Amino acid sequence: MNRAPIGIFDSGLGGLTVTAALFERLPEESTVYFGDTARVPYGPKSPATVRRYCAGILEWLLEQQVKAIVVACNTSSAHALDELRADSPVPVLGVIEPGAKAAAAATRNGRIGVIGTSGTVASGAYAKALQLLDPGLEVVQQACPLFVPFVEEGWFAHPATELVAREYLGPLISRRIDTLVLGCTHYPLLRPLLGEILGPDVTLIDSAVATADAVVEVLEGQGLRAEGSGEPPTHRFAVSDEAQRFTQVGTRFLGARLTDVEVVAMGG
Ligand code: DGL
Repeated sequence: MNRAPIGIFDSGLGGLTVTAALFERLPEESTVYFGDTARVPYGPKSPATVRRYCAGILEWLLEQQVKAIVVACNTSSAHALDELRADSPVPVLGVIEPGAKAAAAATRNGRIGVIGTSGTVASGAYAKALQLLDPGLEVVQQACPLFVPFVEEGWFAHPATELVAREYLGPLISRRIDTLVLGCTHYPLLRPLLGEILGPDVTLIDSAVATADAVVEVLEGQGLRAEGSGEPPTHRFAVSDEAQRFTQVGTRFLGARLTDVEVVAMGG
């Protein structure tokens, strides 16, 4: 048994979707969340810059004595996971592998769509992970850079979001995908709209839920669960800038469980 917290990080508040899934699956575990609100978005930034940001966050989370780290950000997982794993004394989990596994298990016709930030799509990380699982899979990728600001604006079903979503999803529909990976922290909030556009025959894969399942597996496998301690879990939230907006928008992701956001200095 290990009562140390799980560290979770994202470029900003989107990783709260993964946090919500972790709260659901592991209610007895304590967490420390870090959102890099001073430097968000990561999506359009170069892999080298994202890797540098992630290295600093890893250092800060390790100082908080975490027992495992969840890279909730798809862009960070795409660019920095290998380096983070090499530099960390505790297990590091990303969102791409679990999402890819869930998609490979769900597809019936072998044609999988992946949507994400420009960085995630340019890295080809989901396509590589999927083809490693099954080289016969056909992967159709589409960057959807406008979705993040729409979600942060709370425009989940707004006509403007729908217009843009139809434009982005058009090529995926014409390639007749039957499974779509929501390869960005923010996209689960657009699930109802995307589901409506794609119709009931396309399975939507939420990496957040698949990642929470992978965290359970790793903690159990390594004897790191806090289960049975009898102590209530604690949840800390830290950001690198502007706690107020994080709290305000973040409650859309996590509800009333988002409390007491602290601001910590993060250089670079
Ligand atoms: N968290 C990012 C991701 O999942 C989306 C926001 C950003 O561009 O930083 O890729």
